[in-house]
Amino acid sequence: MSQTINNAIDQAQNNPLHSLEEWEEDLLNRYPDPDSIVKEGKTTEEYRNYETPTRDTVKEFYRLNHINQTYDFVLEKKEEFLKLDKKEMSVWDALEFLNQLVDDSDPDTDLDQLQHLLQTSEAIRADDHPDWMVLTGLFHDMGKVLCLFGEPQWATVGDTYPVGCAFSDKIVFSEFFKENPDYNNPIYNSLYGVYEPNCGLSNVYMSWGHDEYVYYMMKNYLPESALYILRYHSFYPQHRENAYEHLMDKHDQEMFKWVKLFNPYDLYSKNPNPPDWQKLKPYYEDLVAKYLPRTLKF
Ligand SMILES: [Fe+2]
Ligand SMILES: [Fe+2]
Repeated sequence: MSQTINNAIDQAQNNPLHSLEEWEEDLLNRYPDPDSIVKEGKTTEEYRNYETPTRDTVKEFYRLNHINQTYDFVLEKKEEFLKLDKKEMSVWDALEFLNQLVDDSDPDTDLDQLQHLLQTSEAIRADDHPDWMVLTGLFHDMGKVLCLFGEPQWATVGDTYPVGCAFSDKIVFSEFFKENPDYNNPIYNSLYGVYEPNCGLSNVYMSWGHDEYVYYMMKNYLPESALYILRYHSFYPQHRENAYEHLMDKHDQEMFKWVKLFNPYDLYSKNPNPPDWQKLKPYYEDLVAKYLPRTLKF
């Protein structure tokens, strides 16, 4: 078989989801509680239209995620990407770039990445939260450009969780961790693994994906509460399931109030009336200029 065909097969096997959004649709199946921010033109029922035809692809996605996200893998990816030496773009080019991740298969909407970000940020703004939180909404998924750099889906999206210690059975499809090499490694498979009780999340390595990446990108520019949102917005095993209290310190607990406040805007702000970007742009240009440099490093 030719090299090209082999690569194509590898690619397809590594990327079982039709689009990155299938993961988020599945989150809506798991956490269907949209009442807090249902928007006009959209009923609660409509949010529940996520039946389960995609379940097998989602399952395969989690299988790959859970067997491949090892402690060593995370260290490798941090080394590879957190130098931020891949690309430098203006903030607006960066949003444009992210938008190349067009999603054809979403049953609910044909909106693109930028629309998801804008709907999140606009919902936050409508509720009068601080402006840095609006900006966080606009940038929270910027790390998904990992996929455009050729990273597999299972190393870009998906729920995140600590590596280097026992995987919680509260993590979705946790049965797949049995095939993760760290599962049988005594260094990593005890409750605390390489960590100390309540050592604080800043000392804990999370499974690799778009959260950690965007956190590094924005680290020098946004307030700490915003950075917690960016870094832990996919950490469902904690912000929804409280499975990792034993690694968190008091400060994490305090900061997770913001992560929890943010989550419904991420999950439930989708609606069929796309915000008018041209109209909104002046507001966002000012907001971006207030906090971010002219260019962003990837
Ligand atoms: Fe995200
Ligand atoms: Fe998101």
